Amino acid sequence: MPSAFIPIVLLAEATGLVVLGLVITWMVKYQDGFALDRTSKEFNLHPVFMILGFLFLNANALMTYRVLGNAFNRTAVKIIHLLFQALAVACASFGLSCVFHFHNAMGYANLYSLHSWLGITTFAFFSLQLILGFVAFVIFGIFAPSSSVTFRKVYLHLHVYGGALIFIMAGVTSMLGTAEFISFKIPTYATLPPQGVLANVLGAFIAIFVALVCYILYNTKYKASAVQSANPYEEQINIEKD
Ligand code: HEM
Repeated sequence: MPSAFIPIVLLAEATGLVVLGLVITWMVKYQDGFALDRTSKEFNLHPVFMILGFLFLNANALMTYRVLGNAFNRTAVKIIHLLFQALAVACASFGLSCVFHFHNAMGYANLYSLHSWLGITTFAFFSLQLILGFVAFVIFGIFAPSSSVTFRKVYLHLHVYGGALIFIMAGVTSMLGTAEFISFKIPTYATLPPQGVLANVLGAFIAIFVALVCYILYNTKYKASAVQSANPYEEQINIEKD
C-alpha cells in the first residue's frame, strides 16, 4: 500500500468530522438547537442527520474495501460495508422525517425546491442501491452463488459506479440545502456575518470531503491487495471485477 494512503484516509476522516462539527455548531450556536417538537428546532435535525448519514457514514461504507480490505476477509468487509450503509439510511430517514414533520406542522408545501427534488432522488437511489446490493451480494451470494456469477459480475460495475454517483449527489444536495437554508435564515448574508462565514466554510468543507473520498475511491493504487473470500465464486467475481 502506498505510504500516502493512511494520511489521506485520516485527512478525509478529519474533514468529515469538521463538516459534522460545523453543521452542529451552526444549528446550536445560531439556530436555537434541537428538539423533537415539530418546530424549527426539529427542522434543525435535518441537516445534521442528512450529513451524518449520506455523507459521513456513507463515505465510510464506500471506503470500507479500501481501508479494511487487507485486514479482514471479504465476508467481514462486506458485512461492515452493509452495516455502515444500513446506519446511513437509518440516519437519513430520520433526517427526512424531521423536515417533513416540520413542513406539515407549519402547513408548508413539500418537495417544491431543486434541493428537495435532488434530495428525494438521492434517497430513492440510495435505498434502491441498498436493496439491489443486498439481493445480489448477500441473498444470491449465499443461496445461488454459482448460478448468479454473471449477474453479480455485471451488476457489480453498476453498483460501484452507483455508489460513487449517489455520494456525489449527496454532496451536491447538501450544498444546495446549505444555500437554501442561508437564504431563509440569514437575512444579513450580504454583509458576511459570522453565521454566513460559518455556512460558507461548511459548504467548502463538504466539497473538500467529497473530493478526498472520491480520490481514495478512484485511485487504483489504494485498492486492497489481499481481499480474500471463503467463497470461490465470490473470489472469481473479485478477480474479474477489474
Ligand atoms: C444528502 C443530504 C440531504 C438530502 C437528501 C436532503 C433532502 C431534503 C428533502 C427531500 C427535502 C424536502 C422536504 C419536504 O418537502 O418536506 C429537504 C428540505 C430542506 N432541506 Fe434538505 N437534504 C439534505 C441536506 C440538507 C442540508 C445539509 C441542509 C442545510 C444545511 C438542508 C436544508 C434543507 C432546507 C432548508 C429544506 C426546506 C426547504 C425545501 O423543501 O427545500 N438539507 N431536504
